[in-house]
Amino acid sequence: MNKPYIIRVSSQKGGVGKTAISVNFASALRSLGYRTLVIDFDFTNPSIGFHLGLEGINSGTKAAMEKKTALSSVVSIHEPTGMHVIAGEVKGWDVLPDKSVLSSFVNGLKKTNYNFIIVDTAPGFEPEAELNYFDEGLIITTPDVPSCASAVRLSHKYNRSKLRHSLIVNKIRNTRYELSFDDIMDMYGGDYASQLPEDDAVPEGIAAHIPAYNLKPRSRFSRSIFSLVKRHVSAIDTDEPPIAMRKKGLWHRFSTKFPSRKR
Ligand SMILES: Nc1ncnc2c1ncn2[C@@H]1O[C@H](COP(=O)(O)OP(=O)(O)O)[C@@H](O)[C@H]1O
Ligand SMILES: [Mg+2]
Repeated sequence: MNKPYIIRVSSQKGGVGKTAISVNFASALRSLGYRTLVIDFDFTNPSIGFHLGLEGINSGTKAAMEKKTALSSVVSIHEPTGMHVIAGEVKGWDVLPDKSVLSSFVNGLKKTNYNFIIVDTAPGFEPEAELNYFDEGLIITTPDVPSCASAVRLSHKYNRSKLRHSLIVNKIRNTRYELSFDDIMDMYGGDYASQLPEDDAVPEGIAAHIPAYNLKPRSRFSRSIFSLVKRHVSAIDTDEPPIAMRKKGLWHRFSTKFPSRKR
């Protein structure tokens, strides 16, 4: 495993739970003893600060990238949990950071002694040139066709960029109109996916500025993210996907019914 191992948390859609998963994933990693940093890479609409009550800080990702401030001095410690965070400035950026600024920032991150760096990103913002900064893409979706279809598109992009990826299906309620996990795995076609339930512990955590994992450790969401993270870490260590499930389901039926048009 590369150290630090940098995970990009992404989706093409907003509201699927990227930020909530980033902070809870990071917190679960910490509880397993890993030195972990969570960073807001949503430059125009940063939100980690709102999730963790760090919205008052005025020196974060932007300051560090512009080298106005040393990396170490923009790391905030989230007092209730001790989590290390580089939140985005609430005002956001008017112009996105250019490639050289980003790459020197990431090079700085690679020299830190964190085991894991979790990077929360903006929906739909996936510049190909940046994907090689990361060791893995964690693609977040909800169990519905529009969100899953865009997650699948994103996974194809990651395949082309040779970025290892895995899928998290979030906000599962097990209603009859949701896609089943098997159908989603079939659409995704990757080797590794996990599921997280919809649970009030998540919005309660945001309201309290404490990740659900810490605020409600016995909630279904917290127990699920703990086992997900544990499994994830063991997969990274052994370099093997812990689960490989592929069944012919909905996507297969879709794609054979509507074969993609050849150009
Ligand atoms: N597993 C979950 N259960 C219940 N609510 C959730 C869950 N995951 C996310 N949410 C809620 O969904 C909303 C969007 O979450 P957020 O993490 O901000 O999404 P994104 O970063 O993808 O835009 C928030 O109100 C959050 O409380
Ligand atoms: Mg977000």
